[in-house]
Order: sequence, then C-alpha cells, then structure tokens
Amino acid sequence: MSFDVKNIRKQFPILDTKIGKYPLIYFDNGATSQKPQAVIDCIQTYYTSENSNIHRGVHHLSQVATENYEHARKTIQTYINAKNDYEIIFSQGTTHGINLVASSFGKLLKAGDEILISQMEHHSNIVPWQMLAEERGLVLKYIPMNQAGELIMAELPNLLTTKTKLVSVTHISNALGTINPIAEIIQAAHKIGAKVLIDGAQSLQHEQIDVQALDCDFLVFSGHKVFGPTGVGVLYGKEELLNAMPPYQGGGDMIKTVTLEKTTYNGLPHKFEAGTPNIIGGIGFGKAIAWLEEQDLEGIKKHETDLLVHATEKLSEIDGIQFYGTAEKKGSTISFLIEGTHPYDIGTLLNQQGIAVRTGHHCTQPIMDFYQIPGTIRASFSFYNTKEEIDQFIIALKKAITMLS
Ligand code: ALA
Repeated sequence: MSFDVKNIRKQFPILDTKIGKYPLIYFDNGATSQKPQAVIDCIQTYYTSENSNIHRGVHHLSQVATENYEHARKTIQTYINAKNDYEIIFSQGTTHGINLVASSFGKLLKAGDEILISQMEHHSNIVPWQMLAEERGLVLKYIPMNQAGELIMAELPNLLTTKTKLVSVTHISNALGTINPIAEIIQAAHKIGAKVLIDGAQSLQHEQIDVQALDCDFLVFSGHKVFGPTGVGVLYGKEELLNAMPPYQGGGDMIKTVTLEKTTYNGLPHKFEAGTPNIIGGIGFGKAIAWLEEQDLEGIKKHETDLLVHATEKLSEIDGIQFYGTAEKKGSTISFLIEGTHPYDIGTLLNQQGIAVRTGHHCTQPIMDFYQIPGTIRASFSFYNTKEEIDQFIIALKKAITMLS
C-alpha cells in the first residue's frame, strides 16, 4: 500500500482528540507512539473473548492465548530477521531488556573486564552498567561525542581493548536524534572479540533492522514506541549467547524440573521468561508489528525525512533558536532551546495550544552536562504527523516566545 498520510491518520483514533479548543498535535513520539485501531481492536478482542494464561492449560482459551502469544513472537522474529523464534525474549521494555543482559551476561564477567558505552546513552543504558561495574569491579568506558552530537568514531580503536567484553550503544539518540554508525561499531567490537548490544528503543519505529545482516549480539526495544502496548518489549539475543547466560529471574515457566534440592532450567526463550508474562502486551506488540509490515515502509521513511527537513527549515527562521543535535545522520527528532526562555515555559504554552512536546533532560543528563544546559524542548515526529501540523507548531511557538519576552 503506497504511503498516504490521510489514510494513516484515520487509523489512529487519538489523533482526532481536542486539547481544549485545539486539535491535538502530537510531537512526543520519542516518549511513546500512538496506537492504530488494529492494535486497539486486538486488545479489546483478547479481553472480550480470549483472556487466559499461556503455556499452562489444556483448555481452549489457554490454547488460543498461547497460540496468539507465540504467533506474536514469530511475527517479531520475522520483522527483525532473527534466525530462531526462541531468540526473541519478551521483556517489559527496553530498560528491562538491558537490565536482564546486565544481570545475566554480567555474571560471566570478572574484575577488570571492560564495558564500553557512549556519552549519548539514555540513563537506562548507563545506570545498569554502572551498577554492574561497581558490583563486579568492571571498568566502564564511554565513546565521547562532538558538538554536533555525533560519536567521535576516531576514538573507538583506543577504547576497544582485549578486556572489552561488551559494547552497548544506542542506535538513535532519544534526545538528539543522532543515528549512530552501529554497523561500524559492531564490526570493530567483533574484531577484538567483544559482544555488542544495540538499544533500538528509538529506531524500530522508524526503520526495519535485520539482526543477522547487522550481526549484533543483542537488540533491545519497546512495544509502546512501535505502536504497541506499554509494559512489553523484546530482548533479541544470539542463541549461543542466551544459552551461555544464566537465568535472570526464577519462577514458573523458566524451569524444567524442580525438587526441594535442585532446579533444572527450561530452554529458550522460557529460561528468561519467569512468571505469567504481559500476555496481551506480547500479542498486541505482534499485532503492531504485523500492522507496520503492511504499510509502505519506504514511504514512511521518506515522509519522516520530509517532516524533519521541513521542521528544521522553519525552526531555523526563529530568532534565538539553538539546536542540540545537528548530526549529519538524524532521525525525525529535533531538540532546541530559545534564548531567554525556559524549556518548561515553552512546553506549557505549547500545551495550551494543543501541542505535545517533551521538555527536560530526556533521561540523558550526561548529554545535558556536555552542552551545559538543564534540558531542551524536543519535538519528535512520527509518520502520522504532517507538514501542516509543523506549520501550526511554528505559529504556536512564536506566540509562546512573544508571551515570554
Ligand atoms: N525514553 C523516552 C523518551 O525519550 C521516554 O522520551
């Protein structure tokens, strides 16, 4: 189906919402995406006629729920081209996926081993490694970034050593929109035998990732940012790595046998999925991915690039604007400040005109420290946004600036 923004918008009922007397203009897609009717219907159907626990019952409903849940796993496997469906571990989201790897893969590491992240990571890709480093005596290193918000790749060879066991980097920066050269990072890391985790929280909703072609060892992402429900995500890991890693949590479903003396563990993916999972989360996430696959993905990409170019051009005309994140390769996210104003005040005045943006440090305080600012105003676009909305946003922004000056 060729890309038609009007047709796309019709499928997202929330876009008809009014905020006071203003039509909603939703530019906070970096925080969470809106949901198409297909996903909303899927959730309603599940709770109306299919709700049951999975992997546990011989009764009809349990079998239907299990089939739907496992079908979702396969849909996601196909979308990211994982070799096996059992390499798709359902998590609670990106943060949970990273914590799972830190906790489990982390147990294979010893004092003095090194982990390399970057200066532009979300807190969720910093704090778990800091905690692990403290616990196990590891060394945590950072790939620095330049003023444009690009990783300084020339530093990479100096940072990768024979002690580096894991490189964990974001594909697209949530705060700056920078698209990082992950293929290059993976190749360099693999040359010295390090594994690589890619934080795909901000990328899967904008582009398809082929984990086999990319050859990443882990990929984490969240359902709610890819048009699915909250509270669910995926940790992809290569089979041999997941097999080598100890279980993360103990409980039902992750065991093969339990006696009072000893437990043997289930195989993948169940080994990492203790307890009743977010069943409708998984099913709804699968539905979101299936829906996305039916869209014109190239058309989506082009539309989002057009939105980025249009917004950047229009915003550049505003006096006193300062952009943060001007990388050559950028996703459809713009962070900025307006001289003499506070981001929260701008955000509040935009909200009064129906416009949703995020303000603050975006869970990336090291980026804000780098630029020596408290936070930014962030507009993050999705393919259901339009140039007309951007024009309206510019009018509203100018009005806010006038009110504050
Ligand atoms: N990580 C999400 C964001 O960037 C919540 O807004």
